[in-house]
Amino acid sequence: MISSTNEASSEAGNADRRDDSRGSILFEGTLRDGSPIIIRRAGSRDREKLIRFYEKLSTECIYNRFMGIIRYFDPYVDSLLKGNAIVVVAETPGGEIVGVAEAVFDEEGKAESGIAVLDSYQGKGIGSLLGKYILSEARKAGIKRMYAYILPTNIRALNMALKYGARIEKKYTGMTYVVFDLDAGDNSYERGKGQGLR
Ligand SMILES: CC(C)(COP(=O)(O)OP(=O)(O)OC[C@H]1O[C@@H](n2cnc3c(N)ncnc32)[C@H](O)[C@@H]1OP(=O)(O)O)[C@@H](O)C(=O)NCCC(=O)NCCS
Repeated sequence: MISSTNEASSEAGNADRRDDSRGSILFEGTLRDGSPIIIRRAGSRDREKLIRFYEKLSTECIYNRFMGIIRYFDPYVDSLLKGNAIVVVAETPGGEIVGVAEAVFDEEGKAESGIAVLDSYQGKGIGSLLGKYILSEARKAGIKRMYAYILPTNIRALNMALKYGARIEKKYTGMTYVVFDLDAGDNSYERGKGQGLR
C-alpha cells in the first residue's frame, strides 16, 4: 500500500494542482513498491487512452467490474465523457492509464461508482488511492450518496469498499449493493478506517 508519509508529503505539495496538459492532478507520489503514480481527473482528451485501458483488462477483471463481458469499450467511454460523470485515473509518469474510478450521476442526485485497475498493477495501493479520490471528488461535486454493485465473490472489492466506510445495504441474488454516505459526519472514507472481511 502507499506509505502514509509519502501520501501526506505528496498531497501537501500537490493536491489540486492543475496541469493543463494532463487535467487536474489530485495526487502525485509513490506506491508501496516505490513506483511513481499520478492520480488526476480525466476528460475528453483522454478518450483513446481510456479505451485502451479497458481493452487491456483481463476477462476476469472485466467481469468483476461490469458483471458481464464487454468487448468494445468506445460506447462506454463516450458515455462517461458526456459530462454526467466524474472520472479519476491513475497514470504512470509515461502516460499509461493503469486504473480508473468513475462516479456516474443518476437522476436522483446520487452517483454510481465503478473502479478497475490493470491486473498487473493490482495489490500496490492504486485502487485505494482511486477510491479515496473518487469519493472526495464526488463529495466536492455535491453528491451525498454513492453506491456500487459488487459480486459477492469479489472479496477484494468488498474489502476496499468497507475500508472506505461503505455499508452493505442489500444483498441481491448474485450481487451486493454497497452505499457510501458522503454527508455522514465522520468522513470515515477519507481515512479508510472501515473494517474489511479478511
Ligand atoms: C478492486 C480493485 C479495484 C482493487 O484495486 P487494487 O489496486 O488491487 O487495490 P489496493 O491494492 O489498493 O487494495 C485495496 C484494498 O483491497 C483489499 N484487498 C486487496 N487485496 C486483497 C486480497 N488479496 N484479499 C482481500 N482483500 C484485498 C484490501 O482492503 C485493500 O486495502 P489494504 O491494502 O489497506 O488492506 C481491483 O482488484 C480490480 O480492478 N478488480 C477488478 C474490478 C472490480 O472488481 N471492480 C470493483 C467492482 S466495481
